[in-house]
Amino acid sequence: MRLVLLGAPGAGKGTQAKKLIEKYGIPQISTGDLLRAAVAAGTSLGKEAKSFMDKGELVPDRVVLGMVEERLKQDDCKKGYILDGFPRNTAQAEALDKMLDTLKVPLTAALSVDVPFDDLMKRLTGRRTCKGCGQMYNVFFNAPKKDGKCDKCGGELFQRDDDKEETIKKRLDVYSSQTAPLFDYYKKKGILSSVNGTGSIDEIFKAVCNSLGLK
Ligand code: AP5
Ligand code: MG
Ligand code: ZN
Repeated sequence: MRLVLLGAPGAGKGTQAKKLIEKYGIPQISTGDLLRAAVAAGTSLGKEAKSFMDKGELVPDRVVLGMVEERLKQDDCKKGYILDGFPRNTAQAEALDKMLDTLKVPLTAALSVDVPFDDLMKRLTGRRTCKGCGQMYNVFFNAPKKDGKCDKCGGELFQRDDDKEETIKKRLDVYSSQTAPLFDYYKKKGILSSVNGTGSIDEIFKAVCNSLGLK
């Protein structure tokens, strides 16, 4: 399976990708996670990326494309992968198709997780992530048992720098103008399907697996 996960900020792409990894052992390639790791490591790429991320804007294509190309060459991607948060605009989608044409391994599916815009603000302002294992929580919907601590590994939970109301508004605008056109892009290729992204995380996961033809 070579899958592109589409969906607005906060739709649950990362949450569902983590469940797919657990159950099927396919790696998740999240450009947001890769960029945040570069920011944390203080690399020059990370410094450049941070100025865009803090404003809720897209990081320049050349930065992201280089990163994805490197990642796709790694051995674990031979058995398939889940692209989460990439591509983000038509230029990235076209560049990805070119990369995969060269490797002769086209995408097998694009799946959108659909959540009404009104639900997204609370999901994003309430999100907390474990520094140790990356597990995600939500103080409104799916709180950790102990405040600020991960249920799974006891790690410290943090809030993302771009999960502030003003930045979230900008991210949602950028999504509508630049990323939403990808629905048509993948529809035309005949590989687009969608699931309702409201309800419990497990219910949505069932719908995701059904839609992808996974058992
Ligand atoms: P990125 O990290 O990709 O963020 P995003 O697209 O804004 O998406 P999120 O990670 O915020 O949401 P998600 O759908 O993964 O939701 P999650 O599962 O966490 O990008 C960040 C920035 O990096 C961009 O703004 C840009 O600057 C840059 N960037 C990244 N990729 C780029 C690219 N390709 N090109 C250029 N720039 C790029 O869930 C959210 C919350 O909801 C959690 O708290 C979760 O617990 C909760 N939740 C999940 N499911 C449910 C449910 N069913 N019910 C209730 N709560 C739920
Ligand atoms: Mg995410
Ligand atoms: Zn943890």
